[in-house]
Amino acid sequence: MAAFAPGEELVLYATIPLALNAVVKLGALDEIADSVLSASEIVSRITNNPSANVAFLDRTLRVLATYGVVNETVVQGERKYGLSEIGKRFSPGTKLAARGLSVMCNHRIFLKPFEHLAEGILDGGEPFRKAHGKTAYELVAEEPEFNNSFNLCMADHSKRSSAVLLDCYKGFASIKTLVDVGGGNGALLCDIRTRYPHIKGINFDQPHVVSQGIASEGVEHAGGDMFGSIPQGDSIMLKWILHNWNDEQCLKILQNCYKSLPAQGGKVIVVEVLLPSEAYQAASEFELRIGLLLDLVMMVNFNGKERTFEEYQALAEQAGFNKVHLVNVSNGLAILEFHK
Ligand SMILES: C[S@@+](CC[C@H](N)C(=O)[O-])C[C@H]1O[C@@H](n2cnc3c(N)ncnc32)[C@H](O)[C@@H]1O
Repeated sequence: MAAFAPGEELVLYATIPLALNAVVKLGALDEIADSVLSASEIVSRITNNPSANVAFLDRTLRVLATYGVVNETVVQGERKYGLSEIGKRFSPGTKLAARGLSVMCNHRIFLKPFEHLAEGILDGGEPFRKAHGKTAYELVAEEPEFNNSFNLCMADHSKRSSAVLLDCYKGFASIKTLVDVGGGNGALLCDIRTRYPHIKGINFDQPHVVSQGIASEGVEHAGGDMFGSIPQGDSIMLKWILHNWNDEQCLKILQNCYKSLPAQGGKVIVVEVLLPSEAYQAASEFELRIGLLLDLVMMVNFNGKERTFEEYQALAEQAGFNKVHLVNVSNGLAILEFHK
């Protein structure tokens, strides 16, 4: 009988993103962006502390090498590490940056609610509330360091997705005023305006978020609450918004969008991950897994969910929209239009 059987390593998997996040936060991957270095050389570049533990870093990197984050070579008996294609995504300055995702998903505030998942299954309570006594957005507003991690994740995600959106979605051409609801610092509207400068952009988010918005010609920042009312425009963008909320809350957001759009020709552009259903099948096992893992994060940390096309369609119709159109799915990002 073997001490471990294949499959049992699953119980140790939680260590991998935590180890990755440690080297991301240390900036260790940035040090090997252009050179192949030993753990000792990396440590000497990231700290002056004589007590720094080189073996800790070496043992962390050699595990990450087995998952393709770094390339390991042995030079004269010493392990040296270089950045792999996967590792590059966790370094700053890359278009595909996933650094923010790592920092946010592995933040203690986002990990703790998982300790309450079993309890939540049994009593129906929200794991995040059980762990912290409030919602994630309430905590983001109160904890500057958590807020920074959240914003870094959104900024990185924006960088990745605005290129995909601009390449795949041609529906911007006819828009005059676009309201980005929950638009963060307004980066997406700024990117959209570089290609469609005729669009007037209104970046709508919570007051403490828009107060740090990017100052840019043609983009106005408006602070408020999407559950109260939404500024008027002929089109509204909801990117990575609905998955943070339960069906009842989504309905309220969509009803508010409906009210802010003109009677004719108004549309909501929804950008989300789609779960597989009759209408849409995931393009790969990888896409399916990412969707389901994000669904778990939304469930535990926001009491939200990822949805199928049919679930979005039902919400849109309940909010009064006439037609729901799946425009495109690229790199796991689905673009839907809800028409009045
Ligand atoms: C998951 S982030 C998405 C940000 C951005 N759309 C993107 O894709 O990078 C959700 C955004 O919704 C905003 N938000 C949360 N509650 C809100 C509310 N009640 N009213 C307006 N915005 C809100 C948050 O501040 C945050 O910027």
